[in-house]
Amino acid sequence: MMAGRKRMLAIMGSPHSDGSTAAMWNCAVEAARRAGWQVEKVELYRKQISYCRGCRACFEAGVCVIKDDIQEIAESLKNCDMVVLAAPTYWANVPAAVKNLFDRLLGVAMEDTARFPKPRLSPKQTYLLLTACNTPFPFSVLCGQSSGTFRAMREFFKTSGMKCRGKVAFSNAHGDNRLPEATAQKIRRFFSAPQSSSGHVGQKPADGNGPPDPVCTNRRNRGQGVG
Ligand SMILES: Cc1cc2nc3c(=O)[nH]c(=O)nc-3n(C[C@H](O)[C@H](O)[C@H](O)COP(=O)(O)O)c2cc1C
Repeated sequence: MMAGRKRMLAIMGSPHSDGSTAAMWNCAVEAARRAGWQVEKVELYRKQISYCRGCRACFEAGVCVIKDDIQEIAESLKNCDMVVLAAPTYWANVPAAVKNLFDRLLGVAMEDTARFPKPRLSPKQTYLLLTACNTPFPFSVLCGQSSGTFRAMREFFKTSGMKCRGKVAFSNAHGDNRLPEATAQKIRRFFSAPQSSSGHVGQKPADGNGPPDPVCTNRRNRGQGVG
């Protein structure tokens, strides 16, 4: 990673550039820029990304062998300090475009071994997860809706070796792009503390309500945000 300003890769995984997910994503991008991050924006639905063919050649090559827009995203992922991934909840999971992104980045994220997968990304890299869903809180969490999306997202980043910075859900969203102020504040708080030399901002709870979610909870980093 280069010295200087910290780099954030902001991935938008909704087909709607003016919907609920976009509102969250824009909020994170603005907050990051204000905090001094260098932000690269990627709108997945504007990219040409073929389906994963399951050939597994990426394990050897370290990147997918299909030449399309995934090559540029893979480079950005390897060189960033932080990823913000915003995606709507579809069937209690990520949309197909986001799932395909994960599939196409298999060999970038991990090395296949005889036993457990070996991470290929750095524990100094962090990720922040955002989702919008129609189910109101707390059913969004209790019924596995936003929490299902976070679980799917985290599987990719955790396996890649990156560290979770937090997660925020916009429940009861219905495509509305008017982000509730409380939700906007939860997102902004991830960027409100000064960056340390490692590029990590201070860990502040995004929400004090409810038990820690198993998604984004480990010994170093407690779960943040609500679903
Ligand atoms: C194909 C599809 C599946 C969806 N599945 C769910 C779901 O499982 N749970 C839920 O709470 N909302 C679900 N939704 C609603 C969206 O998550 C919600 O409307 C969200 O605000 C859409 O974000 P957008 O404005 O970025 O498109 C679904 C929407 C679509 C189009």
